[in-house]
Amino acid sequence: MPAYVLGHRLRGEGARLALMSELLDPMHRRYIDALGVVKPGARTLEVGCGNGSMSAWLAQRVSPGGTAVAVDLDLSLVQVRMPGLELRSADIVAGPAERGTFDLVTARAVLHHVADAEAAIANMVAGLKAGGALLLIEPDFLPVSVAEPREVREFWDGWLAWSRERGIDYFIGRTLAPRMASLGLTNISGTAEIAVYNGGSFWADYWIDTITELRGDLVSSGKLDEPLVDKFLEYCADSNWWTQTIAFTAVHGLAQGG
Ligand SMILES: C[S@@+](CC[C@H](N)C(=O)[O-])C[C@H]1O[C@@H](n2cnc3c(N)ncnc32)[C@H](O)[C@@H]1O
Repeated sequence: MPAYVLGHRLRGEGARLALMSELLDPMHRRYIDALGVVKPGARTLEVGCGNGSMSAWLAQRVSPGGTAVAVDLDLSLVQVRMPGLELRSADIVAGPAERGTFDLVTARAVLHHVADAEAAIANMVAGLKAGGALLLIEPDFLPVSVAEPREVREFWDGWLAWSRERGIDYFIGRTLAPRMASLGLTNISGTAEIAVYNGGSFWADYWIDTITELRGDLVSSGKLDEPLVDKFLEYCADSNWWTQTIAFTAVHGLAQGG
């Protein structure tokens, strides 16, 4: 199995993925609805399905007669089982899930963790039938460059240095559109959405969970020290602190033909 820094066996990963579903599923569902390709009878693929919340929703939308295929390196945190939902354990870098069969292929918060994002996107495109839609939603950490106060900016500088060392690309959002264009997709367009949140909010809780899970690795990497991590966690608990972190970049395009 390829290395994945937030492995599903880490303590707290189930709760962290549940928070991601809570925070990001409404946006993801809105983009899918706007594409208009997910109807009863359709065939969809979600890559890197995490806890499966989006694929369960897709399975309902393609019913009756359709199938929502959900792929992940590790399906151990997918609890849902339902008609029309097909779970597959696979690495998207290794090859396409299928060729030319899907009305929609989507991935959210996956590609920034993938060492060969180029191959992963090409394999997702290979899965599309003519006229099918690819929807990718990935982070771009542009907002942290102007985060306040200074200690928070320093925390993010250390976090980004750590992530580069771990092969994570937190600036992948801006590369999605040109990558899709180079693979021959048409009608490419996108939007970036930035949550504004304060300490004590679900987003702050998400960061507390993530940083608590990774704390040992962050500190042992030498890119962050304990006092700076503590300071950041203090802000995350302070309702008077308001901030912005990720520009979630959603880009979609269509396979030619159809
Ligand atoms: C940050 S989680 C996001 C989960 C879900 N998409 C969400 O947004 O809530 C990344 C997921 O991608 C999966 N993943 C990472 N690399 C992958 C690969 N090469 N092929 C398939 N899944 C992968 C991980 O196992 C994990 O479940």
